[in-house]
Amino acid sequence: MKHKNYDFGLVGLGVMGRNFILNVKDNNFKAFGYDLDQKQVDALKEEGGDLDKVDASTDIKTFVEALAKPRKVMLLVPAGKIVDAVIESLLPLLDKDDIIIDGGNSFFTDTDRREAYLQEKGIHFFGSGVSGGAKGARKGPSIMPGGNKEAYSHIKPIFEAVSAKFNGEPCVAHLGPKSAGNYVKMVHNGIEYGLMQLTSEIYDLLRKSCNLTNEELHTVFDTWNKGRLQSFLVEITAEIFAQKDDKGDGFLVDKILDKAKQKGTGKWTSQNAMDLGIPVPSIDIAVSMREISALKDERVAADKLYDRPTPEAIDKDELIEKAEQALYFAFINTYAQGLSQLADASKEYNYDLDMSIIAKIWRAGCIIRAGLLEDISNAYVADKDLANLLLAPSFVPQVQKAVPAARDLVTYAAKNGIPVPGLSNSLTYFDAYTSSNLPLNLIQGQRDHFGSHTYERTDMDGIFHTEWGA
Ligand code: 6PG
Repeated sequence: MKHKNYDFGLVGLGVMGRNFILNVKDNNFKAFGYDLDQKQVDALKEEGGDLDKVDASTDIKTFVEALAKPRKVMLLVPAGKIVDAVIESLLPLLDKDDIIIDGGNSFFTDTDRREAYLQEKGIHFFGSGVSGGAKGARKGPSIMPGGNKEAYSHIKPIFEAVSAKFNGEPCVAHLGPKSAGNYVKMVHNGIEYGLMQLTSEIYDLLRKSCNLTNEELHTVFDTWNKGRLQSFLVEITAEIFAQKDDKGDGFLVDKILDKAKQKGTGKWTSQNAMDLGIPVPSIDIAVSMREISALKDERVAADKLYDRPTPEAIDKDELIEKAEQALYFAFINTYAQGLSQLADASKEYNYDLDMSIIAKIWRAGCIIRAGLLEDISNAYVADKDLANLLLAPSFVPQVQKAVPAARDLVTYAAKNGIPVPGLSNSLTYFDAYTSSNLPLNLIQGQRDHFGSHTYERTDMDGIFHTEWGA
């Protein structure tokens, strides 16, 4: 090896890793990769072309020695024990002030543990979400790093160069200390689950009520993608409806088994929201629906036991128009829930998150990128302490205008036996969040009745207990 001054090291040369390191090279940083699998190493060398710009090895010592100090080593390996194993194998070879970046979807408490452990050894550790899939890694992902702010200055130029750009602005920012980056990426994925569930429900409504063909569905989603629903998920949905089956007749979407898998980040979002007492029902139900979808055999058996109404006729154009409004309404509600989780978690974990920056770095590169995020970012610029997007004055008129369509479609779906739990949870969240009066006074009365749990009153201060029925 001629030089020992590669700017960036990457561990894990699978699809994501290879694409990311080639992206680094394309941006004129010299990068060195490491993988135990010789095939992956060879594949990278071949694709990279020029070994002075991108090289790789199966030998960890060669890898570490190739890097300029402070070394910047990014891991793109599966979350879990492998991250710890890679850290242990790197540690004896690293020097004080070197930097390790975990680019996977690690659970945020693992990141906190690793950060504290490595800090004792003088190594800086970054938990850094990377969103955008394989294409994003190659062409520009949205990157969500958290960790030591001073050490970030060493990785900032590389991350800013390789990240997606929105109007020339890089979709990466130092988000906060410790696990802030992983936490933000986790909630990004929770929102991703919510938006995916909502688009699947709208698809179901359109096909079951008006028998829209795949060609029509393609046109509908494609048209929406040119309007206020413009987003990566709506865009790929349109593309999916146009995809012909290369193994048989017809469209591929009709041949895909309706069981959705999950790797866990959506579930973590819901679990942690529950732990912190933050309501995110549009995300919760998206996780539950993946679980219900997995019960295929039971669903088929149950379907035979119960009658289901035949959907009533409804005007196609009217339905499409309402569906656009309802989806827009529910998207806003889902972002609102995820962002409120981030705002609350930021206080709980001292992340000091800036919501306008998070919305900004989500505008391009990531899976939940959407035109809407520009408006969301502006709402947080106008009020950085905004408790909930639904309270942003700029959102009130558009939400107000879209809510009747959501009510109509939830009513129609319930009456006609089409499950739209994401849409109805979004509507219920909205109706509850915007209600001055909820019937939870009764729950307080019940709690006090059977358990002397006490209650507060609307007309005087204090904590009260009543001997009910006495
Ligand atoms: C991204 C994605 C990605 C995630 C997949 C799969 O931002 O690029 O969120 O990180 O791993 O979407 O998630 P599930 O397998 O849980 O659906």
